[in-house]
Amino acid sequence: MSDNSLTTFLSVAWESASAAGEIIRARWQEPRSIEYKGAIDLVTSVDRESEQKIVEILQHHFPGHAILAEEEMTTEGKTGEYRWIIDPLDGTTNFAHGYPHVAVSIALEKSDEVILGLVYDPLRRECFRAVKGQGATLNGAPIRPSATGELEKSLLATGFPYDRRENADQYLAFFKAFLTRCQGIRRNGAAALDLCYVASGRLDGFWELKLKPWDVAAGALIVTEAGGSMSDFSGARFSLDGNETLASNSLIHPEMVDVLSSAARLHID
Ligand code: IPD
Ligand code: CA
Ligand code: CA
Repeated sequence: MSDNSLTTFLSVAWESASAAGEIIRARWQEPRSIEYKGAIDLVTSVDRESEQKIVEILQHHFPGHAILAEEEMTTEGKTGEYRWIIDPLDGTTNFAHGYPHVAVSIALEKSDEVILGLVYDPLRRECFRAVKGQGATLNGAPIRPSATGELEKSLLATGFPYDRRENADQYLAFFKAFLTRCQGIRRNGAAALDLCYVASGRLDGFWELKLKPWDVAAGALIVTEAGGSMSDFSGARFSLDGNETLASNSLIHPEMVDVLSSAARLHID
């Protein structure tokens, strides 16, 4: 059993993310075994294998900690101070199609506050990491968001929730509003990496609806620790359990809030 020190948390988080990354890399060339959670919401055997490996390592070191994991290994109830929040494979649709943009996301909460976040892209071998109050890094080097000061010069990203067939108009209203106001929009298919790309200046902003805590827990800490901003679409406090995720380099945050607010009003009218 391990101690509850930050150094141990960091080394065990990395041990589990790198083991999961090994699995994703090893299985990349193999045929996919795909099941459907919904019409377009997939899960592969690799999502499950990755989750099992991460949870096995975390439980070995921290048997008393709670787990919130996307697939099936969430522990019952929420006991104790510590909870690990895990997306074992962010970008499952990408993985299923062999589109090389996926990640493993692991965060640790202490008394309901995320204190550590790690997002690992196993194909590029990029590890984004943040510790509450201690900044954010990419493969050990400090990262900062971009210095882009205007929405017009910004590269943004977004994603679409799995109920997009039912709510396409709402999602397209936000997309359309940004399309005419920024330099470009990407839809890369892994929200945890979208957040890390905002944190490291590769993107200037990101918005998405209905993300789950495992999509955003690690990435949101990485954004704020790098010096970026997180909020809901109205600019109010970001919550892991909320419906709205807005991330930016801070500078374009007010403009992004304006666009989202006017698009929301238009959609309602
Ligand atoms: C999805 C990805 C995608 C986002 C979806 C998420 P998954 O996670 O992050 O970019 O648009 O909303 O659910 O299912 O690949 O882990
Ligand atoms: Ca995800
Ligand atoms: Ca996932």
